Amino acid sequence: MNAKKVIIDCDPGIDDSLALMLAVNLSELDIVGITVVCGNVPACKGAENALKVLEWMERMDIPVYLGEESPLVRDYVDAMDTHGRDGLGESNYLPVTTVQPKQDAVRFMAKTFLQAKETGEKISVIALGPMTNLARLIERDPDSLEGLDELVSMGGSYKSHGNCSPVAEYNYWCDPHAAKEVYEAFEHLPQLAGKQIHMIGLDVTRKIVLTPNLIEYMCRLNPQMGERIRKITRFYLDFHWNQEGIIGCVINDPLAVAYFADRSLCSGFSAYTAIETQGISMGQSVVDRFEFWREKRKNSYILTKTDALRFMILFFKRVIHPDAEESMIAELMGRKWI
Ligand code: RIB
Ligand code: CA
Repeated sequence: MNAKKVIIDCDPGIDDSLALMLAVNLSELDIVGITVVCGNVPACKGAENALKVLEWMERMDIPVYLGEESPLVRDYVDAMDTHGRDGLGESNYLPVTTVQPKQDAVRFMAKTFLQAKETGEKISVIALGPMTNLARLIERDPDSLEGLDELVSMGGSYKSHGNCSPVAEYNYWCDPHAAKEVYEAFEHLPQLAGKQIHMIGLDVTRKIVLTPNLIEYMCRLNPQMGERIRKITRFYLDFHWNQEGIIGCVINDPLAVAYFADRSLCSGFSAYTAIETQGISMGQSVVDRFEFWREKRKNSYILTKTDALRFMILFFKRVIHPDAEESMIAELMGRKWI
């Protein structure tokens, strides 16, 4: 199968970084660029972290573009309490000095989509952060969207409780106006007719929990990669213990990347979804599962089930070591490997 061309729009971030480690190891993906947006950390910090990860993975051939530094309307609220001041769990790895992020993620997206429109080789986007860059693209160059193939968005929540409020997930809460613009574009724009946002929300990502035992196994199989992952997730594990009383950390973003490569990892349903931008439920993804608003276009595909074990096996085999044992991973996850 030919690799699918993709832009990864992200806010690295610990789980974004794990997602990039996976993405560069998936031959199913041809990463044409990484665009960074303000989210977990300011965009400039996120771009610095994206370069660090690409250097670790020996993929400095992939360009990194600096994107929007603030949400469309709201004041910017970071997530350094979760990801650390450096965005990588206060691991304080030194920044890459040989390469700088390129300017203007939105202009890069527009140019890339317009080229794709001409050549017919469409480009997809895996969005792992607030959708500010995508909203700006829709505002400035909606015609370029003819070059967009698919959009997979880590964000939102159908039935799972929120992580920024009882109902809101961070990416859509940080910039609800951007999320609203993107979902409305998939509802109204003719150049997006028939396309849906594949929403990888908390309903499925909460099932992807990286535990100390799994990290220990990573370190046994691949000390260099395992120790890096241990170092950047320590802070994240502490946050999850203090915040949610769990031993382990929910790694949201890698599931969106894995799903892009293998759709059988998750299942769900088509629906009309709208994003609330104000009041106590600001950032909520309102999913019309039972078609109260029948006249609305089904602008989204909501993923609600996932196979966490199959995901973890994919992550281990592609990022850590091809000989990682399924039965060991299953045992460490308290599952049976049959
Ligand atoms: O709510 C989780 C999402 O918000 C993840 O993408 C995390 O990296 C943050 O961006
Ligand atoms: Ca993210």
